[in-house]
Amino acid sequence: MRAAVIDTYGEPPVLRPDWSEPRGDEQRQALAVHAAGLNPVDLHIASGRFYAGSPELPYVPGREGIVELPDGRLAWSDQLDQRFGSLAERTLVDPARTVPLPAGIGAAQALCFGIAGLAAWCSLEQRAKLRPDERVLVLGAGGLVGQIGVQAARLLGAGSVVAASRRPEALARARALGAEATVLTPAASDPAELAAALREVEPRGFQVVLDPVWGPPARAALACLERGGRLVQVGNAARAEQSIAAGELRGRVADVLGYTNFALPWPVKRGAFLRMCGEHLAGNLHAPYEEMPLDRIAEAWERQRQGPGAKLILRP
Ligand SMILES: NC(=O)c1ccc[n+]([C@@H]2O[C@H](COP(=O)([O-])OP(=O)(O)OC[C@H]3O[C@@H](n4cnc5c(N)ncnc54)[C@H](OP(=O)(O)O)[C@@H]3O)[C@@H](O)[C@H]2O)c1
Repeated sequence: MRAAVIDTYGEPPVLRPDWSEPRGDEQRQALAVHAAGLNPVDLHIASGRFYAGSPELPYVPGREGIVELPDGRLAWSDQLDQRFGSLAERTLVDPARTVPLPAGIGAAQALCFGIAGLAAWCSLEQRAKLRPDERVLVLGAGGLVGQIGVQAARLLGAGSVVAASRRPEALARARALGAEATVLTPAASDPAELAAALREVEPRGFQVVLDPVWGPPARAALACLERGGRLVQVGNAARAEQSIAAGELRGRVADVLGYTNFALPWPVKRGAFLRMCGEHLAGNLHAPYEEMPLDRIAEAWERQRQGPGAKLILRP
């Protein structure tokens, strides 16, 4: 079968026309991949330095996909085999760990509500336990998690949402998606300057921060938490390490909450995925995507590294 293959950690995948077929076992079946969604986690895993480990080389990457079930229905899953991922004609998955797509939603659109959508929705709903009328700040608002995060906060009852991004065009989009106010956070900014800009738009401080970036934006956001506020740490698109003064956390009685989709029970994941599909079909939730053939995997990989601002979908 055709497959994108990682031969060396730190290198992009190479397209192979004759990769060995995955073999099913008692629990898992080899199913045709209809569409694969690319995510930052695919690059982290392929770096060989992912905090949760990387598969043995060589392997087929791709943590999520839309597969064709034996009865012909299309279904989403992020429970694919570590060495036979979604960037191939076939993948290996337990059919019980798939979610058939609701009628009316396309495969590419549904993939937006998989790994990225879940990180936005469940970090707010399950981890921050967002309460009605709370003031929310969404960092990295130009990324997929950020764009869905702005809308998820609204749908989950936030009183106000402020969006922060390095890109002016992303801020305009965040406003259209429901953010009341926006703050430009240039990559090289000083955290104190960023904090001042955040305080200008929300002098009362934030009760919840959705943080997919870490680095200076997260440090600035922590300095703008209201007493007792929560920052949900979802990703480190900006930087893996950031020093925080201890007194800043104590003084604010702040909670920094680690979040990963890996820790979500399957029924919660399934429920949140279907809720987002439903919100999309009702016209309440939007996320941009771009489709390309699997042959363009090297180009897609590089674009994912830059932060494409849209979900990249590969068709095998
Ligand atoms: N914990 C989990 O389960 C989970 C699940 C999904 C994703 N994640 C993580 O969440 C993060 C975002 O994922 P995504 O799907 O939204 O990726 P994405 O669509 O590629 O977006 C990444 C965003 O990060 C921001 N960013 C990148 N480099 C930056 C820098 N140097 N300084 C400041 N901001 C920077 C950018 O936002 P702006 O353009 O707005 O500046 C960019 O659009 C990734 O780190 C990913 O690994 C975690």
